Amino acid sequence: MSETNTEKATLTIGDKTIELPVHIGTEGDKSIDISKLFDEHGLTVFDPSLGSTSICKSTITYIDGEKGILRYRGIPIEQFDRPKPNFIEVAHLLIFGTLPNRSELSEFSTRLTDNELLHEGLRRQFNELPPKSPPMAILSAMLSQLACYHEKFLPLGDDELFIEAATRLISKARTIAAYSYRRSKGLPFMFPDPAMRYCGNFLHMMFSIPFQQYIVSEEIEDAMNLVFILHADHEQNCSTATVRTVGSAKANLFASCAAAVSALWGPLHGGANVEVVKMLETIQSDGMTPELCIEAAKDKSNPFKLFGFGHRVYKNYDPRARILRNAADRVFSQLKTRDPLLDTARKLEELALQDSYFVDRKLYPNVDFYSGILLRAMGIPTNMFTVIFAIGRLPGWIAQWKEQHDNMAQKIIRPRQVYCGNKIMDYVPIEER
Ligand code: CMC
Repeated sequence: MSETNTEKATLTIGDKTIELPVHIGTEGDKSIDISKLFDEHGLTVFDPSLGSTSICKSTITYIDGEKGILRYRGIPIEQFDRPKPNFIEVAHLLIFGTLPNRSELSEFSTRLTDNELLHEGLRRQFNELPPKSPPMAILSAMLSQLACYHEKFLPLGDDELFIEAATRLISKARTIAAYSYRRSKGLPFMFPDPAMRYCGNFLHMMFSIPFQQYIVSEEIEDAMNLVFILHADHEQNCSTATVRTVGSAKANLFASCAAAVSALWGPLHGGANVEVVKMLETIQSDGMTPELCIEAAKDKSNPFKLFGFGHRVYKNYDPRARILRNAADRVFSQLKTRDPLLDTARKLEELALQDSYFVDRKLYPNVDFYSGILLRAMGIPTNMFTVIFAIGRLPGWIAQWKEQHDNMAQKIIRPRQVYCGNKIMDYVPIEER
């Protein structure tokens, strides 16, 4: 996986010189090991948003942000944009480390199909929720509640229990997501159809109505597969780091992934795909031009950001954005329609990529810039965009949780702080304040 380099880093503080080991990843990335710094020298390092901190060794996903490279288990992301992408194969690849052969794929798919229904107790809870409940709130709450209905899969350290919990999560998240949409529309729930494949079944539960089956077109099913695949893992992003933080306390898989959904909900993370579409709609309807939008994003006195642009890791075009942009073109041409928001997005991209503000800061379109437009083309409502992101990301969260738990040396994640508050002072009784 990685070797410990004979090369050492040297840290000098006061009259002390400390030698630190260096780890080298498979692609040559170097990381200075400071894990003993506090225990041996009473020192910490300051990195509030962990931008220069590697929190684990991982074999799952490789990103080179400077070059715009993303690989799952070594396979370039572009290779999954095939004529017939299959999300379940990718889920297997991420979680178990290999592409499944036919019998492994069939066994994995059967497990998913066997677990697609929700317990009736869980299903009835949808009726108690306000109809306008945010689907991400529902998803997080319901994933957490899977622990109540599948308690026997909670113990850690057993491979079979892990697979059962993982397949329940992947399968039921899709059912929960579709039901949250049906609840918001006041429509009856459609049971999953065991004869359908993962993505088609999701679209069926979203859009069929009793006695009127939604016909899943090949183009839309392929696009759904592709969207899920492109979101399936992205190494130590905010929600995945959440899975690892919660999981490091030996919390079960359901609880760890429910916490990750909450992290993903934020507009700086998965919620950005919703903000992108809102921004494009504002440009369409409120007469705000793309040029004004770019100016507002550059104005430091304005909290507005160009959503779908910029990334903590990519300082180049996000490869997922490029695939999604092409997929959006493809789907619109297959459906023989056009969304004016796509033209607006293209214009914004063109302006930003010529503007020194964006060029100097290496701000390029990220995965969220085109995903919303593609999802709209597929008939997915805006309030479901981040939920779709979450369904796609589940295999990644599960793979990362498994990798963490397979490592016996993993300890609870417990960062430190630089305390900058009051020095010791006395408690003052209320009558004397
Ligand atoms: N619009 C305008 N300015 C921006 C943007 C943007 N979208 N993104 C970054 N900047 C500026 C930022 O203000 C800063 O300027 P300065 O150097 O003058 O202070 C500079 O670029 C560097 O940005 P940063 O804040 O240090 O970058 P970060 O790594 O902390 O944040 C980010 C990354 C994704 C949160 C940020 O780029 C952003 O808020 N983008 C918009 C939200 C978005 O699209 N999020 C989806 C991310 S991709 C999917 C995912 O991982 O969930």
